[in-house]
Order: sequence, then C-alpha cells, then structure tokens
Amino acid sequence: MDPIADNPVIQLLRRHRSVRRYTGEPIPAAMLEAVIRAGQGAASSSFIQAYSVVRVTRAAARSAIARAAGNQPWIEQAAEFLVFCADLRRVDAACRRSDAGTLEGWTEHSLAAVVDTALMAQGCLVAAESLGLGGVFIGGLRNDPETVVEQLALPELVAPLFGLCLGWPAEDPQVKPRLPLALILHEDRYRDPAPAAMADYDRVIADYYAARDRNARAGDWTSTTARAMQGKKREHLLPFLRRLGFFRQ
Ligand SMILES: Cc1cc2nc3c(=O)[nH]c(=O)nc-3n(C[C@H](O)[C@H](O)[C@H](O)COP(=O)(O)O)c2cc1C
Repeated sequence: MDPIADNPVIQLLRRHRSVRRYTGEPIPAAMLEAVIRAGQGAASSSFIQAYSVVRVTRAAARSAIARAAGNQPWIEQAAEFLVFCADLRRVDAACRRSDAGTLEGWTEHSLAAVVDTALMAQGCLVAAESLGLGGVFIGGLRNDPETVVEQLALPELVAPLFGLCLGWPAEDPQVKPRLPLALILHEDRYRDPAPAAMADYDRVIADYYAARDRNARAGDWTSTTARAMQGKKREHLLPFLRRLGFFRQ
C-alpha cells in the first residue's frame, strides 16, 4: 500500500466535483447533523467560531433564493440547502458582556469571520462527500443578498456568504483538472507563472471543456476566467456588508 496514493482522505479531496443533480432521496437527519458537526471541526481564528448555518426548508424561501442567485434550479431541487453566514453576533455579545466594547466593524474581524465560515463550510462538503453525497456551493446568492437577509431573517452582524446544495448524486461529472503545482506552490519567493506553463494549463482545460459529458464547450481557463470576472463585480456588496456591521474600518 502506498501511504500517499492510497490515503482515503487525499483520494476523497482529489475526487471532488460539484454535483448539481440529485435523486430526490432525502438526507437522514443524523447524517446532516454529522456533516455540520464535521464542519465545526475546522480551525477557527482565535476560536471565535464566527459562523452560522441556516438550513432552508421553506419552499418559498428556496425559490426566492434560487431566483436571487440567477435561477439556479438545484437550489430548489437539492435534498438540503444550507446558507453559510459570517456571524460576529455572538462575538459582539461576548465583548459587550465582558465590557470590552463593541466590534466596530473592523476589517480584521470581518476577514476572520469570512475565513472561519469558508473553512467550516469546506469541512461540511468534504464530510458530505465522504458519505456519498454530492453538493455545490452557491455564491450566486451574493447577486441579491438582501433577499437572503429578508427570507432568513438575518440580523445585524450576520452576513450570508454562500449557500450549499446537498443531495444524493444523480450525475457523475468529471473532476476538473486543477492548476499544476508549479503554478501555485512557490518556494521562498513569489514567482509569476511562466507564460508557457499557463498556456499548457489552458490546453488541459480546453480539452476538459471539449470532452466533458454535460455542457461541453469551447474555451480555456484564461478566457473562461476573464469572462466570469466581467459580470461579477457586485458593487452592492461593500455597502451591504457595512450595513450589517462588517468592513466598516
Ligand atoms: C464560494 C463558491 C461559490 C460558488 N458558487 C456557485 C454557484 O453559484 N453556482 C454554481 O453552479 N456553482 C458554484 N460554485 C461551484 C464552482 O463553479 C466550482 O467549484 C468550480 O467550477 C470547480 O468545479 P468543481 O467544484 O466541480 O471542481 C461555487 C464554488 C465556490 C467555492
């Protein structure tokens, strides 16, 4: 047995692919709880655990969020839909109880909450995949985060960052080839990628897009990334987050 190649955790992580079609079978409650508890195992900046997860069961709320996210049907079809929120409310309350003042919207605290939430959410998805479930994160809800706040009654200091659809897979998409290690792992000093290395990766991704079972298309990583960034400025986000008490200074 090869201790690296046969490591089941590494294999699971490298097998990840987003799943957007589900059988319709429910996820047992104990399984969902185990998934969330597993996510809570993530490290947390100063142990503030600055996140909350809202399980969305109300069909009307799912539809409204699906529309807000640009009509993504899997939000309504998934067995479970979770919204991951950066949550500084408990932290703020702890400061108030201890006469340590309020958080005042510092960028440092806001970033810590965003990072905590992302780490926790990834743990949930990995745990879910280890149980045979599939899922996809939904950043699209940041198109219209006010709708999410309204549907889920989110108070100040609780900001929705992204959702997660989970269900039993009814599709088996190919794994998307990741950037080669040489482009993301630097030793001692940062080096910009060699143009030839980027061009090689563009070819790998063009082959992947051309050959994949569903939604085959032309395009490489550079062109797809540039196009994706065009439409995702979401200028409302900074005022939205500030209104909720994040990123004020
Ligand atoms: C924070 C975040 C938000 C995402 N938002 C969406 C989304 O709104 N809709 C969607 O279909 N996929 C979404 N995705 C999935 C990505 O498109 C997907 O992870 C990426 O293309 C890589 O493919 P893979 O997950 O199959 O490896 C999101 C992923 C992340 C991490």
